[in-house]
Amino acid sequence: MIDYDAFLSRAAAGMKESAIRRMGSVVARNRDVISFAPGYPSAETFLNQDFQEIARELLSGSDEHVLQYGPTRGFRPLVELVAEIMDHRGAPAALDRLLITTGSQQGLDLVARVLLDPGDVVLVELPTYTGAIAAFRNVQAHMAGVRQDADGIDLAALDAVYARLVRAGRRVRLLYLVPNFQNPTGLLIGRDKRLALLEWAARHDILIVEDDPYRELYFDNAATEADVRPMKADDREGRVVYLSSFSKTLAPGYRVAWIDAPAALAAKFEFAKQAADLCTGTLDQRLVYEVARRGILNRQLPLLRTHYREKRDVMVAALGRELADVVSWTDPRGGFFLWARLPQGLDADRLLDRAVRHGVVYVAGEAFFVDDADDGLPRASNDGGRNLLRLSFSAPNHSRIREGVVRLAAAIREELAELSSSASAVQQAR
Ligand SMILES: Cc1ncc(COP(=O)(O)O)c(C=O)c1O
Repeated sequence: MIDYDAFLSRAAAGMKESAIRRMGSVVARNRDVISFAPGYPSAETFLNQDFQEIARELLSGSDEHVLQYGPTRGFRPLVELVAEIMDHRGAPAALDRLLITTGSQQGLDLVARVLLDPGDVVLVELPTYTGAIAAFRNVQAHMAGVRQDADGIDLAALDAVYARLVRAGRRVRLLYLVPNFQNPTGLLIGRDKRLALLEWAARHDILIVEDDPYRELYFDNAATEADVRPMKADDREGRVVYLSSFSKTLAPGYRVAWIDAPAALAAKFEFAKQAADLCTGTLDQRLVYEVARRGILNRQLPLLRTHYREKRDVMVAALGRELADVVSWTDPRGGFFLWARLPQGLDADRLLDRAVRHGVVYVAGEAFFVDDADDGLPRASNDGGRNLLRLSFSAPNHSRIREGVVRLAAAIREELAELSSSASAVQQAR
């Protein structure tokens, strides 16, 4: 028997399955499970008719380039269209700053490979996006978590964590942020704080990675275009590497996203990308380009805002009915996620088995935490997230959301009852 572990690189030895994908396999095995786990867009919103017509035209055979390898930077008309999108977002971008990627996840991977050496530190919000954790972990970077307050990353905590790392002789390279409707908390970083973060990064000569897939999905009764203005729009020095995606607005199956970075870095991302996939599928890019060029994407955006706002309302109302006495949660102003806190003493990961038996799944909060205790640095900001969980309201329909919350409530109440009966058994035994 070959011991394959002995063949693994040090980086591969540390790679782990994503907690979210693991939940996906639970759902696949149990058909009636209602999933609040992955951040999937709602399949009801996919523009199948439009996609079909455009795909038929593209695949008519009239253009031999459609199925050919394309430029690594991306299908040129799409790159130009992304420049227009960036302009609309307040951050005009020259074409040499832009690179189309295979989802923003590839963008994160490129950022990690191009900008980090093993042991370098990335400052992340606590909690933070699991896909970013995976990309940074894969290059053996060290992640230091900074706690949040009501509008995202806490500036005082950022100072404290940074000072501790510098005292420990660490090289801090990047600050990774999801300012709009963060995954997993749904929080929105306020405008003043965005400006303060840019200043902070300049003061310490650190690059900011701004990951922005949810920007278009603000709920218009709770947030405005001004609230979701990217940090990139106020980046006078070229300190921000900006990532965004068509996954949440058109369909994630196309895997079309982009990076807007200072030209010198964009060139390096391009070289790194060549080694990964030569180019992003140009059929996908052409399709996304046509959907946007024909005005279909812009027509779709207000509908999506309403669609997801209604789902948020349904989930918040259901939580209010079923669990207000024991669970608290954030009320997101956009995006796909709501972050919930169970009563002290309950463990979201342990509760999952019971939740699956009741026919509902979520992602236990721990998956979004980084623990910087294992390399000798003092623990600072990691409170572990044991009683926290992420609920995604984006994919299920209204009745499944209501039913899922009823099932979740049943699991939580059963767990609470069991905890209190075992606590009183312990007391009686004393
Ligand atoms: C914060 C964040 N970044 C990146 C991604 C990856 O998006 P894509 O589908 O473009 O790879 C996601 C997807 O859930 C996300 O939530």
